[in-house]
Amino acid sequence: MGWFLCPRKSSKKSKKPNQKHNDPISSASEKLKLNSSLDVNENSNGGSGRIAAQTFTFRELAAATKNFRADCLLGEGGFGRVYKGRLESSNQVVAIKQLDRNGLQGNREFLVEVLMLSLLHHPNLVNLIGYCADGDQRLLVYEYMPLGSLEDHLHDLPPDKKRLDWNTRMKIAAGAAKGLEYLHDKANPPVIYRDLKCSNILLGEDYHPKLSDFGLAKLGPVGDNTHVSTRVMGTYGYCAPEYAMTGQLTLKSDVYSFGVVLLEIITGRKAIDNSRAAGEHNLVAWVRDPCLLCYDNLCLKNINLLVLGLQYRPREHVLF
Ligand SMILES: Nc1ncnc2c1ncn2[C@@H]1O[C@H](COP(=O)(O)OP(=O)(O)OP(=O)(O)O)[C@@H](O)[C@H]1O
Ligand SMILES: [Mg+2]
Repeated sequence: MGWFLCPRKSSKKSKKPNQKHNDPISSASEKLKLNSSLDVNENSNGGSGRIAAQTFTFRELAAATKNFRADCLLGEGGFGRVYKGRLESSNQVVAIKQLDRNGLQGNREFLVEVLMLSLLHHPNLVNLIGYCADGDQRLLVYEYMPLGSLEDHLHDLPPDKKRLDWNTRMKIAAGAAKGLEYLHDKANPPVIYRDLKCSNILLGEDYHPKLSDFGLAKLGPVGDNTHVSTRVMGTYGYCAPEYAMTGQLTLKSDVYSFGVVLLEIITGRKAIDNSRAAGEHNLVAWVRDPCLLCYDNLCLKNINLLVLGLQYRPREHVLF
């Protein structure tokens, strides 16, 4: 999937963004401001406000991943590669993201990610175990999520891979919504995630979902302000149109992205899919197109049925 203005990618094979340095933390002093001003409700499903991330040396993480061996590679995103590893000190299995070292691109996102995930804790947010900032190396160490990302289970499935059943889809959607609710309603000031998409919803045992990748996250508006003004960043297909047009970011921008994810979960289609027929490339546009009724009546009926299934005997629905 393409990038949006200064965007994140969604396809694992996409190129890195041209420019990643935007409005997130721009200096150490801003970092401290974020650090001291973000507060989380202690009684809100695991939020504790504590800073828990450990620091690792590059040598420790190289040892954990057998020197970043190809067979430890879990995937690749816009900022670097993710490896499975085992920490020698604790024997814990982890996922290690090694950011590309071209210049220090991604360094701001690295800082934001470390700060945000050090302060925000919830059962539906991925756990940051630690980080490494040795020389120009930047690595993030996360809990390992054994079932990969939601994208891995929704799109481009090999023929032998089982499709998600309806209940599992709803469980994932509900868990992602809880993670978002925590960011919006429990964190103070609220946090706007800005990167909600299927590849950033990671799945643990029993398909327990957790939001990941907080490098684009922004502190939300406070007081009487309705929005924060930022340079537009996000992934094409998931970015709220009013934010894309004005740069005015609100909590609702995340809700829009959540709606796109929900549509993907329900229809099994990608947010952007250029391999489809003209008029069907953009999932939101396709679903909103009144002509859908005429030329794809059956599909619309299916969507309606599935949405109904949310409220009524979901077990009885057979998917796709
Ligand atoms: N904690 C983790 N546990 C297990 N697998 C992970 C973990 N984090 C990432 N991965 C795997 O690595 C892949 C790449 O992740 P990454 O976040 O770098 O890129 P992305 O989400 O696909 O794209 P983007 O850079 O736009 O966010 C994921 O799709 C997922 O399969
Ligand atoms: Mg990601």
